Amino acid sequence: MTILVTGGAGYIGSHCVRQLIAAGQKVCVIDNLSRGHREAVPPQASFFQIDLLDTEQLTDIMKSQRIEKVIHFAALAYVGESVENPLPYYSNNTAGTISLLRAMRQSRVSQIVFSSSCATYGIPASIPVTEDSPQTPINPYGWSKLFIEQMLIDCAHSYPNFGFIGLRYFNVAGCTHDGALGEDHNPETHLIPNCLKTALGQQSQMTILGNDYPTADGTCIRDYIHVDDICAAHLLALDALTPEAQRFYNIGLGHGYSVLEVIKTAERVTGCEIPIEYHPRRPGDPPVLAASNEKISRELGWSPRYTSLEEIIRSAWNWFQTHPHGYEHKTGSHTGNEPKDHS
Ligand code: UFG
Repeated sequence: MTILVTGGAGYIGSHCVRQLIAAGQKVCVIDNLSRGHREAVPPQASFFQIDLLDTEQLTDIMKSQRIEKVIHFAALAYVGESVENPLPYYSNNTAGTISLLRAMRQSRVSQIVFSSSCATYGIPASIPVTEDSPQTPINPYGWSKLFIEQMLIDCAHSYPNFGFIGLRYFNVAGCTHDGALGEDHNPETHLIPNCLKTALGQQSQMTILGNDYPTADGTCIRDYIHVDDICAAHLLALDALTPEAQRFYNIGLGHGYSVLEVIKTAERVTGCEIPIEYHPRRPGDPPVLAASNEKISRELGWSPRYTSLEEIIRSAWNWFQTHPHGYEHKTGSHTGNEPKDHS
């Protein structure tokens, strides 16, 4: 069986490809390399640089590579950017998934694990968030993912043998234990990488985006989950994927940390002072997000190996110290930082 991994050159996708290969799976990666890194794809995986919107080429690859199941990571994933420029989010994420689902139908592939997001919940009515909480996103990124969830439900309703498992990630962080793969975004907007870049002296201070939220210290609270634990959930989901599967699971630790708590922890891990400056809120940011992971634990037997924020940050620090400029030697036709807008 060959697994197609879309976005397999990206941060989470590449960690998952590595775990799949270690588990003995045959893997085919597609990625348009607009934000991914060719160097992050191990040589054991076949690789095609194509865009999700190229349905014809996607169909050819699925047929020639004898794909049986799909893990779909490829997406733009910056909340703030999606508010500033929403159309690339609907184009890459939502329309890109329509193209993928069409290619799957044309090549008779009918099972998919989909990377969804806690951003689909918007501002949750209660914490921790369970899977049946109302989904009312407050940013285009969250909407682009929620539309896909609905498409999957509709496909499962209408197409025989179409099965899916959607995983709603909370805040993914950290890097694999041996430092071989890491987080290399450009632009980098995420909290933990920016703390570590400040510790390395690559930027002079950390910007705190809002300290007037209704939380104990006024900064946003997020549930940080290690990337290898997210990937382990994908392997379990792949095993549980059947033609009847129609399920969604949250993946998070179950409790959150404020922005200030993350910065303090990063100071402890790195031994460096991280100067801070307060800025206004970033549009599209909910005040508090933390997952109930009870469903995935009960039904798939998932449990996180990394249970402390300190361990998660330490694994990321390991990567940033050894790769201060990320995957430096770019190959292929990396196209730059602008999101592709096919709209
Ligand atoms: N933050 C700062 N300063 C920074 C960066 C972030 O204060 O320099 C704050 C943000 O405002 C937010 C928190 O830190 O309150 C976490 O921000 P991240 O950018 O690290 O993560 P987000 O919560 O915005 O988004 C991430 C993923 C999304 C996913 C979401 C789920 O990028 O794809 O987690 O919460 F949907």
